[in-house]
Amino acid sequence: MNRHFACIAATALTVLPATAFAQADELVLYCSVNEEWCRAQSEAFQRETGINVLMTRKSSGETFAQIKAEVGQPRGDVWWGGTGDPHLQAAQEELTEEYRSPLLDQLQPWALAQAETSGYRTVGIYAGALGFGYNSDLVAENPPACWADLTDERFRDDIQVANPNSSGTSYTMLATMVQLMGEDEAFAYLADLHANVSQYTQSGAAPARAAATGETAVGIVFMHDAVAQTVDGAPVVTVAPCEGTGYEVGSMSIIKGGPNPEAARLWYDWALSPEAQEIGAAAKSFQVPSNLNASTPPEAPDLEDIKLIDYDFARFGSADMRAGLLARWDAEIGALAR
Ligand code: F6P
Repeated sequence: MNRHFACIAATALTVLPATAFAQADELVLYCSVNEEWCRAQSEAFQRETGINVLMTRKSSGETFAQIKAEVGQPRGDVWWGGTGDPHLQAAQEELTEEYRSPLLDQLQPWALAQAETSGYRTVGIYAGALGFGYNSDLVAENPPACWADLTDERFRDDIQVANPNSSGTSYTMLATMVQLMGEDEAFAYLADLHANVSQYTQSGAAPARAAATGETAVGIVFMHDAVAQTVDGAPVVTVAPCEGTGYEVGSMSIIKGGPNPEAARLWYDWALSPEAQEIGAAAKSFQVPSNLNASTPPEAPDLEDIKLIDYDFARFGSADMRAGLLARWDAEIGALAR
């Protein structure tokens, strides 16, 4: 056990009854980052604490829907990772527990803002900007630099993006377009883009993998997911769109009434520590970690260099806004002929 975690465990020991630890031998984790990182993180926690982690990986929107469907009989303890908006919606709908970790004062302002907005029912664990990646073997000339380029007919049936119902990445894109253009203009843009979309994937990062293999020319994804393909040796170029772009505050929440609340709080505190946050880079996940003392992987796109919009998380993570935008997407985009 490392020194930092020993310290957290000792703090927790003083506030939890001894019986709590006797019972904390299992944790049911709903994980919404990439599979490889989910596994590495679960295994590290298990090694350090002896607590058996039962992990399932699902996209952000799917996990939100599962937690909502399990109300009354919650099966999960912690929802770790995935975009912040559905975590905020879960907080607003009181599907998740209020918890103030002793590590909050080590966090980036954007991670803390997520906690404050939610009444401490969620917290930021990493950040990353939205963009796209293109396959430079397939797009040798006139590469796309802007959102506007993606509706050009040279990309007919050659773009992939996820479905915003299942994927937090794609909901971030939808909300980004609304914030950049206004709602009606955003839906007009998405309808134009639809002519070029060959597939709406379930998971947000899948289009980056498709661009890497040449299955598609362009994948609309978080920039770190495109970078991961380049690091793996694929001919993928990552683009920060010229008009500006949105970003995510990847989040973590404790599920209300979950079966192992003590193990859930141990995970939560551990997952905010610098050591735990540095596992991401080793698993080829290049987000910016939320703990100020965690090192940011050199491969992570520098948020300072990207034209970021002032993403309104409280507004776009609210139940009414998220449900309304998804219903409109289903009616106006999802329903269009393929
Ligand atoms: O782990 C990669 C990642 O892009 C995260 O940064 C993000 O929170 C998550 O996947 C979103 O996944 P999805 O779009 O499938 O919900």
